[in-house]
Amino acid sequence: MRTITSSLVALSFAACSGAPADAPRADAECATCHPTQAAAFVVSAHARAPESDLFRALRDRADPDTRAFCDRCHAPHAAPGERGVGCVTCHTAIATRGVSNGRLVMGDGDEMLGGFDDARATPAHASRRSGFIRSAALCGTCHEVAGPGALVETPFSEWSRSPARAAGVTCVDCHMSTSPGTTSTAHARGPAALDGPERQLSDHAFVGPEHPRASELLQRAASIAVAVTRRDGDALAIDVTVTNRNPGHALPSGARFAREVWVELVAVDALGGRHIVTGGLDARGAPVEGDTQRIDLGDRVTRSGVAALPLDADAPAVRAIPAGERRAYRLRVPAAWEGAATVSLAARLRYRRNAWALREALGLAPDVAPPVDLARAEAAAP
Ligand code: HEC
Ligand code: HEC
Ligand code: HEC
Ligand code: HEC
Ligand code: HEC
Repeated sequence: MRTITSSLVALSFAACSGAPADAPRADAECATCHPTQAAAFVVSAHARAPESDLFRALRDRADPDTRAFCDRCHAPHAAPGERGVGCVTCHTAIATRGVSNGRLVMGDGDEMLGGFDDARATPAHASRRSGFIRSAALCGTCHEVAGPGALVETPFSEWSRSPARAAGVTCVDCHMSTSPGTTSTAHARGPAALDGPERQLSDHAFVGPEHPRASELLQRAASIAVAVTRRDGDALAIDVTVTNRNPGHALPSGARFAREVWVELVAVDALGGRHIVTGGLDARGAPVEGDTQRIDLGDRVTRSGVAALPLDADAPAVRAIPAGERRAYRLRVPAAWEGAATVSLAARLRYRRNAWALREALGLAPDVAPPVDLARAEAAAP
């Protein structure tokens, strides 16, 4: 049996790890006996972590030390940039050296840690029950990034002070249930390994905003309300309220520097004309310029006040809404459009996984995924 394996340790602690790391065991080997987990996992963002063109474009601009830092989480077991988070990343991790920046401590590369204390013996590996595998600390070691620049992600610390944590609900409860984004008692059942006994299984799809099942997750994220509060001369004062329905962490969370989450408000006039007040997109899909009322929940990434790439930027200005909280925004809408009165309003909370401006600044083609509507609301104008 191997003792300390893992290139993750080698990357993180090259100075103290001494011996060269063995090649970690490949997902393809695990797949031969664990086809259910492997089939779900192969389409997950974990398995594809180094493939994102946005990730590659940003990583390519970094110096070698910073690239090694990226690879701690995006490609922990491979020659840089070749393979993503693997089965053994989680199933042989024993501890963390501080819940951030990819500082996992790896154990015996041939002993698989899981939730069962009665796993059937197999010649393929030893098995052991571990509390760490289900802990938010495992996930948080990668899902908490402290720079450089505006490369900041804080799901773990958001969760640490969330209503979900107070209720004893962890990342795994919401992100490995059959119903992504929510705790579900309806866990799938089946053999955990070929020919094994029936067990309660955990979904290894890790549905995120780039997954084919993204809408199942995102539909639970938020609600929006719109109300006309009063008439103010030639304008209507409108309150738009956005509620983060997720008790687990902020909206947006994770790679906020890359996300665009914004409010679109449309005024409908008495003749049926539709007027985009804020949040419109031009023919290319870019945010309309000069939109002074724009409400954006993604991070503001700037250097000395000027738009910048995340690695070159100052610490970000965070606009995300904390877990379970709501925020109200006041907007002004003309009471009439060339004589036709505003009779109703329609609001949408929209989500785009890659902010337009970031892809444009990196010379990447526009996001292939169209914006997703997280929530909608309408109101009559009295
Ligand atoms: C030759 C078949 C085989 C291969 C290859 C294999 N396993 Fe297993 N594994 C099993 C069997 C059998 C069990 C026990 C299942 C049970 O008791 O329900 C098991 C159990 C597990 C468990 C549960 C451990 C526990 O105590 O909760 C995990 C996690 C696991 N394997 C991960 C892996 C990973 C990761 C790989 C690849 C590095 C892998 N396995 C390769 C057959 C295999
Ligand atoms: C991001 C971390 C992570 C990765 C990567 C990962 N798993 Fe798991 N796996 C878990 C967690 C968490 C559990 C649930 C443990 C529990 O229920 O206590 C689990 C459970 C399992 C189980 C027990 C049966 C089940 O479905 O609950 C097996 C077998 C397993 N994983 C195999 C794999 C294989 C094979 C891969 C790669 C194809 C893989 N895992 C990748 C975190 C991970
Ligand atoms: C109460 C359920 C719940 C818990 C607990 C929870 N999440 Fe989430 N998570 C969600 C929902 C719903 C979304 C979709 C909305 C969104 O993108 O913020 C989501 C989205 C995400 C995303 C994608 C964010 C993006 O837009 O790129 C990541 C990454 C994530 N969660 C990681 C975590 C981690 C890590 C933990 C534990 C520290 C955790 N989550 C705990 C429900 C939960
Ligand atoms: C070794 C580091 C690492 C660990 C440990 C880890 N993750 Fe991740 N996770 C990543 C990376 C990197 C990505 C994003 C890949 C991408 O989008 O390019 C990701 C993506 C995700 C996503 C999808 C978000 C999206 O944008 O598609 C979810 C959900 C998620 N992780 C949940 C978890 C949970 C739950 C755990 C704990 C069981 C966990 N992760 C453990 C590194 C990790
Ligand atoms: C501590 C772990 C960690 C480190 C180090 C890290 N990341 Fe990430 N990164 C993540 C996780 C986890 C996600 C997924 C979050 C989500 O989906 O919201 C992610 C997501 C991203 C995304 C968005 C992916 C997409 O396609 O939407 C980009 C781009 C990115 N990281 C770039 C980088 C670069 C460049 C570096 C190195 C300078 C780096 N990251 C270092 C953990 C890390």
